Amino acid sequence: MDIVEAINQRKSVRAFKSDPVPREILKEIMEPALRAPSWGNTQPWEFAIATGKKLEEIRQAFAGKAAAAEEDNPDIPRPREFPQPYDTRYRAIGRKVLEMKGISREDKEKRKRWVLQGLRLFEAPCAIYIYIDRSFYQQGDGLNIWPLFDCGLVAENIMLLATRYGLGTIAQIQAVVYPDALRKALEIPDSKVIVLGIAVGYPDWDDPVNQFRSEREPLDNVSTWHGFD
Ligand SMILES: Cc1cc2nc3c(=O)[nH]c(=O)nc-3n(C[C@H](O)[C@H](O)[C@H](O)COP(=O)(O)O)c2cc1C
Repeated sequence: MDIVEAINQRKSVRAFKSDPVPREILKEIMEPALRAPSWGNTQPWEFAIATGKKLEEIRQAFAGKAAAAEEDNPDIPRPREFPQPYDTRYRAIGRKVLEMKGISREDKEKRKRWVLQGLRLFEAPCAIYIYIDRSFYQQGDGLNIWPLFDCGLVAENIMLLATRYGLGTIAQIQAVVYPDALRKALEIPDSKVIVLGIAVGYPDWDDPVNQFRSEREPLDNVSTWHGFD
């Protein structure tokens, strides 16, 4: 598959079929994904890949915590605020997803159920959790954010490669908002910082939530060009 085709085809999938993803296919995705560049070739990423009963255990733990209104506490905190223009863009995607699901902003019950769906990884049959070593991230009283950047590069590789196999993906902060539950289920020690989850599975293209394409700012709005003429 051509790289531009893969880039254009990838989009966040928020409804999956239950068909399992074979381990062999996951290996064919993960191995080339590791060719991602990283700061000084440090390759700070580590992965826990979960499916079946183990993933169901995680879903239930997350759902239980949400039902108990337990405050979420991701290892990498959410943004504290969204200045403009980010706030507008962030709200637009949230609005679009709810619109596609036919959920009105006022319907608190349905919105809550939709958030729960997110915490359950939209029922994807597989999840790839990415984590890094705390010693490389927390240094003195500061943070070395470069391993997070490197995780982003490997995550995009995974998501692009997945399209080759007809798989859909979504990068999800929601998948890692209760890191203690993940540490317990996946035996990840405290010395690791859990960065991101990627839900993986065969998309349910009949679900309207998979039938829109998110917007992008035109290139001219986000770039300046220098020394070309
Ligand atoms: C780091 C990261 C975390 C994300 N977390 C979530 C999430 O928790 N729930 C969700 O529905 N989408 C999540 N997304 C998906 C974004 O909303 C999505 O990438 C964005 O709207 C652009 O749409 P596209 O992926 O379809 O191109 C996340 C994306 C990234 C890169």
